[in-house]
Amino acid sequence: EVTTLIRTVGLDLLKPALPQRQLDGHKGTFGKLLIVGGAVGYTGAPYLTASAAVRTGCGLVSLGVPKTIWPIEAAKCVSAMPFPLPEKNGMLAGKALPQILEKLDGCDVLALGPGLGRGRETARLVWELLKTEKPLVLDADGINALSGHIDLLDARRGRPTVLTPHEVEFARIGGDLSRGDRERAAQDFAMAHGCVLVLKGHRTVTASPEGDVLVNTTGGSGLAKGGSGDVLTGVIASLMAQRADALRAAAVGVWLHGRAGDLAEQELTAYSVTPEDVVRKLPDAIREIL
Ligand code: APR
Ligand code: MG
Repeated sequence: EVTTLIRTVGLDLLKPALPQRQLDGHKGTFGKLLIVGGAVGYTGAPYLTASAAVRTGCGLVSLGVPKTIWPIEAAKCVSAMPFPLPEKNGMLAGKALPQILEKLDGCDVLALGPGLGRGRETARLVWELLKTEKPLVLDADGINALSGHIDLLDARRGRPTVLTPHEVEFARIGGDLSRGDRERAAQDFAMAHGCVLVLKGHRTVTASPEGDVLVNTTGGSGLAKGGSGDVLTGVIASLMAQRADALRAAAVGVWLHGRAGDLAEQELTAYSVTPEDVVRKLPDAIREIL
C-alpha cells in the first residue's frame, strides 16, 4: 500500500524543473525530437505537435508523416523538418519502420501518435517502436494501439516513457476510473507499468512509477477542442529533448499548456481559443516561470 502524497503543481516545483537555456548553447544542446504521426484526414495534429515543440525550445524537430500528407506538413511546418514515409490506406505502413528507426538514431526523443489513425498495420508499427531505447511520449492513436497489448508497455520498464491519455484512451488501456478517484487510478497505472502517466482533463493528474502524484490547476474549457492534446504532446516531448526527466517534463508541460490556454482565453474568450492560439501563448506562459 502506497501512501499517496498528492501535490498541486506550483512555482516551487516548476522553476527548478524548467530546463536551463545556456547562452552559448547550440541546437544540439537543446535536443533533437522526432515526431511520428499524421494520416489522411489528420493533417493538423502533427503540425500542432511540431509547432508546440519548436515553441517550447527544442533544438531540432523532425516530423515523419505519410507521404501523401507530407506536402501539407512541409508547407505548414517551416520551423520543423517534415519528411515523407511509406503509407497504406492513408496511414503509415509497416514498411516505414526502417526509415523511422534510422531517423530516430540521430534523435534524442520520440513522440508517437498524434493523428496516426487506427489501422492494424499502424498499430503494429507502434508496437515495434516501443522497443526503442530512446525516451518516448506516446499519445492518441499511439495509446489506442496498446489496447489489449499493454504487456508491450511493460517491456519498456526503466526507459523514460510518458503516456498522455484522455479518460477514454485511459480506459482502453486498462485504466480503472470506476472508483471515481483519478489520482489513485493514475498512480496505480504508472506504478504497475513503470511509466509516467498523464491523465488529461480538467485538473490533469500526472503520476510517476515511484508513486508521485501531481495535480495541475491551469487550463480551462478553451482547451476542450480537438488539437489541444496534440499541442501538449509537443510541449512535453520538447522538454524531454532538452533533458528534463520524464516526470518533470510532464508536470511542467501540463502546467505550461494549461497556462497558455488560460492566457489565450483572456485575450480571446474560451469560445474562440484555438490550439494554434495556445501555441502562440506558450512564450508568455514560459516567461512566468523563468
Ligand atoms: N480544463 C482544463 N483542461 C482541459 C479541459 C478543461 N475543461 N478540457 C480539455 N482540456 C485539456 C486536456 O487536459 C488535454 O490536455 O485539453 C487537452 C485535450 O486533449 P485530448 O483530449 O487528447 O484532445 P485532442 O487530442 O486535442 O483531440 C481529440 O484525441 O480522442 C483522440 O483521436 C482523438 O484526435 C482525437 C483527439
Ligand atoms: Mg488526444
